Amino acid sequence: MTSKELREKYLKFFENKDHKIIPSASLIPENDPSILFTTAGMHPLVPFLLGQSHPQGKRLVDVQKCVRTNDIDEVGDPCHHTFFEMLGNWSLGDPARNASASVAGGYWKKEAITFTFEFLTTELKINLGKLFVTCFAGDNDAPKDTESAEVWQTLGIPEERIFFNGKEENWWSSPGEIGPCGPDSEIFFDLTGKPCGENCQPGCSCGRFPEIGNNVFMEYNKISDGKFEKLVQRNVDFGGGFERILAVTNNLEDDYQTDLFIAILDTIGQSTEKKYEDNKVAFRIIADHLRAAVFIIADGVEPSNKERGYVLRRLIRRAILQLKKLGVADLEKAGSEIAETVIKTMAPIYPQLEKNHVSLIQIIETEIKKFNQTLEKGLKEFSKLSEIDSKIAFNLFQTYGFPVELTAELAKEKNLQIDLEEFKKEFEKHKELSRTASVGMFKGGLREQSEITTKYHTATHLLHSALRKILGDTVAQKGSNITSERLRFDFSYPEKLSAKQIEEIENLINQKIQENLEITSEVMDKNSALQSGALGFFTEKYGDSVTVYSISHPALEDQQVASSAYAGSIFSKEICGGPHVKNTGDLGTFKIQKEESAGSNLRRIYATLS
Ligand code: ALA
Repeated sequence: MTSKELREKYLKFFENKDHKIIPSASLIPENDPSILFTTAGMHPLVPFLLGQSHPQGKRLVDVQKCVRTNDIDEVGDPCHHTFFEMLGNWSLGDPARNASASVAGGYWKKEAITFTFEFLTTELKINLGKLFVTCFAGDNDAPKDTESAEVWQTLGIPEERIFFNGKEENWWSSPGEIGPCGPDSEIFFDLTGKPCGENCQPGCSCGRFPEIGNNVFMEYNKISDGKFEKLVQRNVDFGGGFERILAVTNNLEDDYQTDLFIAILDTIGQSTEKKYEDNKVAFRIIADHLRAAVFIIADGVEPSNKERGYVLRRLIRRAILQLKKLGVADLEKAGSEIAETVIKTMAPIYPQLEKNHVSLIQIIETEIKKFNQTLEKGLKEFSKLSEIDSKIAFNLFQTYGFPVELTAELAKEKNLQIDLEEFKKEFEKHKELSRTASVGMFKGGLREQSEITTKYHTATHLLHSALRKILGDTVAQKGSNITSERLRFDFSYPEKLSAKQIEEIENLINQKIQENLEITSEVMDKNSALQSGALGFFTEKYGDSVTVYSISHPALEDQQVASSAYAGSIFSKEICGGPHVKNTGDLGTFKIQKEESAGSNLRRIYATLS
């Protein structure tokens, strides 16, 4: 069965059961700041799950584009994806809560499970003997879901293939944590028939049981942590993994062998002159991540250092790194050829891919070019090293964004070794330091998040110094706050800054970024630090011994861009706990987004790096 046939069959099946077909919403959630991407079909429907009436009625069916990055480390196996499509059928309070579900036309557990079962076993002819299910075990918030289990049993799933789990496994709530939620009943396909051990059951991570669908009985609203109330209506939210169902229907053990991916894998094969059979993990990562990148860009995101743009950047870079590891020399060409094939494969269903074709490819090429520069910078630094340890590897990563996998490989070529466990420890240590890093946006995201906040930290020192140089020594830091999106800086100054002053400050900072100033640190006792001219406006907070960070023009022999008049001179010197980047050249472009009063004789600046 082709993906086109499956798509049509699903929509038709539910259309015949009085469902209205609705189009996929954007990957970028509207009006929901709690999530970066649409991760499930339910997100765009939240207002209707909460009780607002949907213009298309109470029964809907769709195929929704989704992006999930929480499973990103699993991508490379046969059935995990960052971008995927979700088959969805919905009952939005049909019938009303106080009506009996068994009245004609009702749609609750029995109906929903029966629809799912019928679609999988009758329409798709998936082997009933291979289906396993799970149901909610019950707790203080909601009772055990024996009703669903009984329906499954009636339909022919024997008791020994029905399992009960707690909230961890069998309760759906969206990543935003509050909102409509409820117990769910999941359907798994037994791919191999071979248990990995005594406790191998649905949910086991051995790969035997891909989850292919999930009926959520959404009758609760999570209003705060651990607090639930009943919704005004009972909803059914079915979500089915399109790629997985397609694979299972075609008796394939690998989603990437379906027609959704086969042309993409072919292009990767041509670009790398390698075979999928010998490089499955790399091929899958490349295919998955570039597919995700194409769709994310098509919905209006561009690579950047924050939020969605940052996820996009990481996806592209992870894919390109795999191409590099496979020996591809022209990464831009290979990356854009693969993206072209993604567009060609998916455009019949998502015409906006074709519409934005040219800019889409351009954005991907530009990002690859930037990454190439990062790699080159890192390689240059690496070649200077005569030894390497996990700390140096971490610095390469932190300062140049140089991937640790590549460091490990290059080290091997030099007969050197880095201890990845030690690297991880280094990373953890750094994580502790970077308290402003926000958690959980992107798996492994803390690493990247802290990389950004480190940059903002250094940019704050540049700003502080630039303000004093342009506005005078009355400027003193009064507060600073950094997130992964921006820096905020409060300082003493009596009046509003003029547009010209703002421009001068920006220009000076960007000049210092372009001049590739070095950041160095030394530990000194507090008094000598202050006497040496180091700024430290929060001196009472420091102990006797302090770290002083200096941002200096390189010495004459190392000059590239900086004018020789500044050789060796110090632009900024502050007492600070760090961490900082090693070179201002890593900061990108500095921009003041806003300047405002923050009290009497107090101004506040918001600024970004891009
Ligand atoms: N919202 C449910 C899920 O994504 C169907 O699993």
